[in-house]
Amino acid sequence: MTAYTMPMPDDISTIDLTCPRTFEENDLSEYWRQLRTARPLHWHPPVGDAPGFWVVSRYADVMALYKENKRLTSEKGNVLVTLLSGGDSAAGKMLAVTDGAMHRNLRNVLLKSFSPHSLKPIIDRVRTNTTRLVVEAVRRGECDFATDVAEHIPLNTISDLLGVPTADREFLLSLTKSALSSDEEGQSATDAWLARNEILLYFSELVAERRARPTEDVISVLANSTVEGELLTEEVIVLNCYSLILGGDETSRLSMIDSVQTLSRHPDQWQLLRDRKVTLESATEEVLRWATPAMHFGRRAVADVELHGQVIAAGDVVTLWNSSANRDEEVFADPYVFDLNRSPNKHITFGYGPHFCIGAYLGRAEVNAMIDALRTYTTGFEITGEPQRIHSNFLTGLCSLPTRFQPDEAALAAYETESGARL
Ligand code: HEM
Repeated sequence: MTAYTMPMPDDISTIDLTCPRTFEENDLSEYWRQLRTARPLHWHPPVGDAPGFWVVSRYADVMALYKENKRLTSEKGNVLVTLLSGGDSAAGKMLAVTDGAMHRNLRNVLLKSFSPHSLKPIIDRVRTNTTRLVVEAVRRGECDFATDVAEHIPLNTISDLLGVPTADREFLLSLTKSALSSDEEGQSATDAWLARNEILLYFSELVAERRARPTEDVISVLANSTVEGELLTEEVIVLNCYSLILGGDETSRLSMIDSVQTLSRHPDQWQLLRDRKVTLESATEEVLRWATPAMHFGRRAVADVELHGQVIAAGDVVTLWNSSANRDEEVFADPYVFDLNRSPNKHITFGYGPHFCIGAYLGRAEVNAMIDALRTYTTGFEITGEPQRIHSNFLTGLCSLPTRFQPDEAALAAYETESGARL
């Protein structure tokens, strides 16, 4: 179990939501409960040179503000780090930090690649790959579930979507780790910046290739689509390729890792899953609500917005806390109970409104494939060492989870016979 080291302070205004350590050291359940009850629109005081910002914690308010794309904008950043440092250099070009007509047009282009029909072959590969990784881990008996299993799924899936050749994937994985990883405190900002530029350069070479010889992948779709009669620029294409890694790698990975830790702590729910007394679809939704890997997103106000008798003034930063909204007792019965049969379960893990996660169907399919493989090939599992938390004020979850599996021998033998027959 990851033990939190600090007791919850009595004065909620001492909690610093900008500091990653706040999330590593504290169980914030009580903090969020107090805010939802007494201060649904809370002013977080400035930290250092950064400005203060609004904190929105109730489900209904988070939904309403996600929908609000006239008086709130994503173009000045959409997470605390960029919002507080004054903006995002990809604004107006990368989907998640673009609004208005350009956002609609870009989203429509990308949606072609995200329909259930287009995703079918990608999801088939997710299932095959996930099953193989889980079978191998169960056969070994012990593994670090985060690095040996979960790490290998989302980036491969995004590479399939983008059409990244297999030979380049290890290289891309190592760059992505340097550019984005929240695994450790004190990573060099220069290394991260260099790795990010190298990823962008790599994609620009692929764009040139796919303009010349288009295939079915997302890069080809972007490279050959027009918006208002013009082909998308190389910069826009490259940034939006990168945005799929930003959006879909760590979030999906953290959800899968969380599913293993949470199921190991809830043997009754694991048994329901094993005994097929809960559907995979219902279990997937509860795993996603429980994990809520993206704790917050944010916006900057471009006009005044009134809420609970206070004014979010034009220019203010406002943050929407999915991690609190997904535990709102006004919406979820017994929100702190992990219940794989929960219904209804309209969690807000993928956001809401115009920027609703474009990869939600894929993210769900990845979690679904993972818990399906777990319930099929292992009779149970236990956590054998100290899990390690990531270091972030935006994402939450684990980057290391030592796990021991008990094999389901009959299912493993059936898998091995079938895969042997395929060779
Ligand atoms: C947007 C969460 C998986 C790509 C979002 C948003 C959330 C979210 C909350 C809304 C952001 C906002 O309102 O500012 C998640 C979670 C995932 C996941 C929890 C996994 C469990 C994926 C995957 C992909 C992806 C697999 C792509 C391969 C994106 C993109 C956006 C987005 C491009 C921006 C959409 C827009 O601005 O129109 N995601 N996501 N996400 N997500 Fe995901």
